[in-house]
Amino acid sequence: MSIFRTKDLDAMVAASRRPGGLQRVLGPFDLILMGIGAIVGTGIFVLTGTGALTAGPALPLSFVIAAMACGFAALCYAEFASSVPVAGSIYTYCYATLGELVAWMIGWDLMLEYGLASSAVAVGWSGYFQSLISGFGLGLPTVLTAAPGALPGVATWFNLPALLIMLGLTGMLSLGMRESARLNNIMVVIKVAVVLLFIAVGARHVQPANWQPFMPYGHDGVFGAAALVFFAFIGFDAVTSAAEEVKRPERNLPIGILGSLAVCTVLYVVVSAIMTGIVPYQKFLGVDHPVSLALQYAGENWVAGFVDLGAILGMTTVILVMLYGQTRIIFAMSRDGLLPQRLSTLHPKHGTPYFATWVVGILFGLVAAVVPLNVLTELINIGTLAAFTLVSIAVLILRRTRPDLPRAFRCPGVPAVPLLAVGFCVTLMSYLQATTWLAFGVWLAIGLVLYFGYARSRSKLN
Ligand code: ALA
Repeated sequence: MSIFRTKDLDAMVAASRRPGGLQRVLGPFDLILMGIGAIVGTGIFVLTGTGALTAGPALPLSFVIAAMACGFAALCYAEFASSVPVAGSIYTYCYATLGELVAWMIGWDLMLEYGLASSAVAVGWSGYFQSLISGFGLGLPTVLTAAPGALPGVATWFNLPALLIMLGLTGMLSLGMRESARLNNIMVVIKVAVVLLFIAVGARHVQPANWQPFMPYGHDGVFGAAALVFFAFIGFDAVTSAAEEVKRPERNLPIGILGSLAVCTVLYVVVSAIMTGIVPYQKFLGVDHPVSLALQYAGENWVAGFVDLGAILGMTTVILVMLYGQTRIIFAMSRDGLLPQRLSTLHPKHGTPYFATWVVGILFGLVAAVVPLNVLTELINIGTLAAFTLVSIAVLILRRTRPDLPRAFRCPGVPAVPLLAVGFCVTLMSYLQATTWLAFGVWLAIGLVLYFGYARSRSKLN
């Protein structure tokens, strides 16, 4: 039965509530900004191009569907986060409730969400960076601009800017980049300002004729695009990782999670409607900076430059948060003995998991350099959707097995809301390509082999 052994939940809860822990300083507004900081990035600035090709002008509908999947799952996440606010997020939580094997598989699966997402956002960052420097008449040799095979008919070796931004941010993290709320807030304000600037300027160039026909590819197109732009919402779960530092978590956590989701949904819907209103959706073929392209199309080159800059800053914070999340999960798994011990050693001076940070940064930096973005996004989405599904099921299980556990925030409408989350997530997963499912299956199979071949016998629970 050892694959179902659990860590002691009550001991973890007690440890997290002991006085002298982290200070409860964050209010609802901080959490909303933190959420937006982690959410708005490649999804809106890059993937909307492919989304528009898939759904046509109905793209805003796709965003609403993806937002609903996230909203229901977010309520389940909030219950988890508020009852056991400990490091390692849902990996640790599953370890205490569903057992070691499920926890290992979740941790393994989360690498698809955090690690690969940082690579994918770095690729998006690179696209905007190149667009920005081209405005100054600068450019890189073509072979260094993208992963092999990313540009049809063009010979490319690897994506140099994507690799460099990953290594640069890894360096920052390894030195102990404390997540400065102030720096994050400044970047978020710039990012949101740029989006609002796009809305204000772009709205004047909308040609309603471009919205016809509204759903050229029918429901399948709308759901297919929803499964893709789901990526744009990934990151709201980062808010839950701050659970131990939130004032009145039972009230503020759900406000932070749902508030940031709501703000982003409104921004995404409006931006995608304006984009497809300015440019006929077919023109987004092969475009990796669709938002600024729409402005260039409208002759607003000057504003397009601002959008490029805001997108670059915005994506930088997303990469940072994703890399940070990935290193902390590896750290927690290593501390439990499931990964090599070295990954949880701390730097004597900086106090950071130095080795784990560089392993993560170099590994996923190389992925960003040589794997095309579209291959990455679907895999990230399926991994994240699977994690959301598990979280929602776990909430139901825990209500039965541990009804006594104090829950600062209770997901409303149980069992309907968790079941809706599962329904939406599984539906979106069903719209991902067969090759994505295959890759996901292979990833999980590798995870299983590693668990039985390595982790199980080395677990600290032995
Ligand atoms: N939601 C994040 C982004 O779109 C991952 O970049």
